[in-house]
Amino acid sequence: MAAGKGTRMKSDLPKALHAVCGLPLVEHVGRAMKGAGVRRPILVIGHQGDLIRATLGEEHYAYAHQPEQLGTGHALLMTRDMLASHRGPVLVAPGDTPLVTSDDLRQVVEHHVRSRAAMTIATCTLDVPTGYGRVIRDETGSVKAIVEESDASDRERAIREVNSSLYCFDAEPLFEALPRLGNANVQGEYYLTDLVKLFVAKGLRVEAVPLPAESMLGINDRWQLARASALLRERILRAHCLAGVTIVDPATTFIGVDVEIEPDAAIAPMTILEGKTRIGAASVVGPNVRMVDSVVGHECVVLMSHVHGARIQDGARVGPFAHLRPGTVVGPRAKVGNFVEVKNAVLGEMASAAHLAYLGDATIGERVNVGAGTITCNYDGFEKHRTTIGAGAFIGSNSTLVAPVTIGEGAFVAAGSTITADVPDNALGIGRARQENKEGWAIAWREKRSRERPSGS
Ligand code: UD1
Ligand code: CA
Repeated sequence: MAAGKGTRMKSDLPKALHAVCGLPLVEHVGRAMKGAGVRRPILVIGHQGDLIRATLGEEHYAYAHQPEQLGTGHALLMTRDMLASHRGPVLVAPGDTPLVTSDDLRQVVEHHVRSRAAMTIATCTLDVPTGYGRVIRDETGSVKAIVEESDASDRERAIREVNSSLYCFDAEPLFEALPRLGNANVQGEYYLTDLVKLFVAKGLRVEAVPLPAESMLGINDRWQLARASALLRERILRAHCLAGVTIVDPATTFIGVDVEIEPDAAIAPMTILEGKTRIGAASVVGPNVRMVDSVVGHECVVLMSHVHGARIQDGARVGPFAHLRPGTVVGPRAKVGNFVEVKNAVLGEMASAAHLAYLGDATIGERVNVGAGTITCNYDGFEKHRTTIGAGAFIGSNSTLVAPVTIGEGAFVAAGSTITADVPDNALGIGRARQENKEGWAIAWREKRSRERPSGS
């Protein structure tokens, strides 16, 4: 259920799309469901539903539209047609509990099936139950009702066992009862929770499964979003550590849910790994690295750099202070050093751009040495052009390579050149004025000046 606006988020973005560790809130729940064996979860969407649908796509999810947000009972009713031919358990989860796990969901379904219940609710016990629906049990301990906070008496409010909003139903009695829910409550909504009373009155079995409170943390405001992110972050870091990754300082390390890291890699402090990033064995990343959607091979070192959409191959070294942009490939044992920006460019094996360069739209061969201050002039104000540098070429410092241009294999470019024409293999390209030395010029100059303006005057 993800149709609500999430008013308490105070946001233009629907609550379901707020990110937790790099993934929209609702997708955490969706993935937990898939992990528990639900082939294609149905998302109930409404408020900014099109945006949610466009973000999550059609491959993994089906969608039911709730045009008006009339309550959780009404939300679930919107799935009736899609589930018309479905028999057996229907697993229901709120879209705003990102810490729920596949194990939690499996437990609820298993209990439901084993106990042949018509409805099973997951509950948890909180020190501060404020805001949640309270679970009312009778003398025998059976659940007889859920009362929402706004409708609860003082005595009911003192109850610490709360409804997690995670349920398993039997399809038949569910869709038979849903249209009969009323909305005579303080919020004027069709409460899904009222099904408990309806089922109990009909003599149908309602079961409760206790789950850990952490799993059920619901996000209603941005502080809860921050808290949930912190908890999930810790889970992710712990899992990497237990799988053989060194994380020097968990307090300053942020790793997204889809990041993969091989054993014996080390992540140094103040490092943020996002998106579909992969780090190979025995590589060291950080301190101070932000890496997005990038792949790092084995035994690489990436230090104090911003890396986005790049591939860094085995044994390469990047940083400090490098900026790798999308389309960058740093070849095996190649080096990109301080204040080097690379975009849509491939550096071959053992190529080196150790300091102060811009390499954009370039193919740079094996063992090329790119001197400090080299700039590929890839843009003419209208189009981007490529620079190709052959294997083993040497680009002298402060060279300006005006693309499209090719520097041949083994060629030299003299320092300070502006290269506008191709340089053949093994040639020397010089593109600057020839230096001229005037013998004794300085002495003559000083004499002339002191005659014109004697010192002290
Ligand atoms: C709900 C439960 C409450 C439980 C709490 C746990 C009801 C009536 N109350 O309260 O017992 O303790 O969750 O977190 O169910 N939604 C829709 N359409 C709607 C209304 C809600 O899709 O018309 C979705 C929301 O987007 C959200 C989820 O259902 O993802 C829960 O709704 P929310 O308004 O947050 O319910 P709570 O007040 O938290
Ligand atoms: Ca909620």
